[in-house]
Amino acid sequence: MTDITTLEADISAAIAAAADAAALEAVRVSALGKSGSISELLKSLGGMSPDERREQGPKINGLRDRIQAAIASRKADLEAAELDARLAAERVDLTLPAPPRRKGSVHPTMQVMDEMIAVFAEMGFSVAEGPDIETDFNNFTALNFPPKHPAREMHDTFFLPEDEHGERKVLRTHTSPVQVRVMHAVNEKVPAWVANGQEPPIRVIVPGRTFRKDSDQTHTPMFHQIEGLVIDKGIHMGHLKWTLETFIARFFETSAVETRFRPHHFPFTEPSAEMDVKCDRSGGEVKIGQGEDWLEILGCGMVHPNVLRNCGLDPDVWQGFAFGCGVDRLGVLKYGMPDLRDMFASDARWLAHYGFSAFAAPNSATGLS
Ligand code: PHE
Repeated sequence: MTDITTLEADISAAIAAAADAAALEAVRVSALGKSGSISELLKSLGGMSPDERREQGPKINGLRDRIQAAIASRKADLEAAELDARLAAERVDLTLPAPPRRKGSVHPTMQVMDEMIAVFAEMGFSVAEGPDIETDFNNFTALNFPPKHPAREMHDTFFLPEDEHGERKVLRTHTSPVQVRVMHAVNEKVPAWVANGQEPPIRVIVPGRTFRKDSDQTHTPMFHQIEGLVIDKGIHMGHLKWTLETFIARFFETSAVETRFRPHHFPFTEPSAEMDVKCDRSGGEVKIGQGEDWLEILGCGMVHPNVLRNCGLDPDVWQGFAFGCGVDRLGVLKYGMPDLRDMFASDARWLAHYGFSAFAAPNSATGLS
């Protein structure tokens, strides 16, 4: 039967040439569909004589079975090829670096504050706080600034508008007003959150925000200070010097930092001093523990008897020392930042570079870091 042989060859060639599922389906319809070539042959069996049918029947049925099998096998091949193509196109390249994950960091000011608090906490200081908006009395008068004295202008104060009592509050120019709050709290048992309501001896540090009209490479209108106050019997300059020298060595994690005390004037301490650290400023950047320059880092002194009196403590019984230290400036020194103003510029790249991980391994000196 040349007819069947040729037909089978033609259909087989068409199956092999079908490039996709749609082409294969077209071949199937033309062969096995209602009026397909093989279906027509099957129909022709009805018009044959029994002998003819006996001979042709198995051949035509065999042809149909082989073509059905060939179509099924081609269909499976096409599906496998299509899957391979999809897998190749959609392959995940595991060698590509993962996109960076956004993560926050601890701001250097907060990091440095925590480090400072940790050092003082080990020396037995507790933390007291006070508000950013202060009365003129706490910020100046109680601290022995004479009324109307130009010393009040010394701090380039931000004054608030007069309130209903005709009083002009200030954005505190230093953390020293919290000294007043702490000492008053001891006497008057006023809010415990400022002072733990403790009797002398008092040993507190006061971290917080402070404000002055000032802006250049080493000054910003808002900055942070840590105040220290110690009140006890028989306190003298030796205690002050030891405390601050020990603090500096622990904070900078080296005993190689040289310090000196220079006489100075503050209305609220007598005698008063500024503490300098030795540094090298030759390369545009300040390096601690080397060089021949001195850099002022804090003010300090023995609490003035008038301040003790203003806060209800008898200066014949109680003495004390106090200090006030710029937190941001110490951070700039310790971690080598070129410009203090960057601390508050909120540049995400700067923060990513200088920020600290909240979960970094403990630092040997401070237990923080
Ligand atoms: N309050 C002072 C300042 O901000 C620093 C200081 C605090 C000095 C305590 C002496 C004692 O400049």
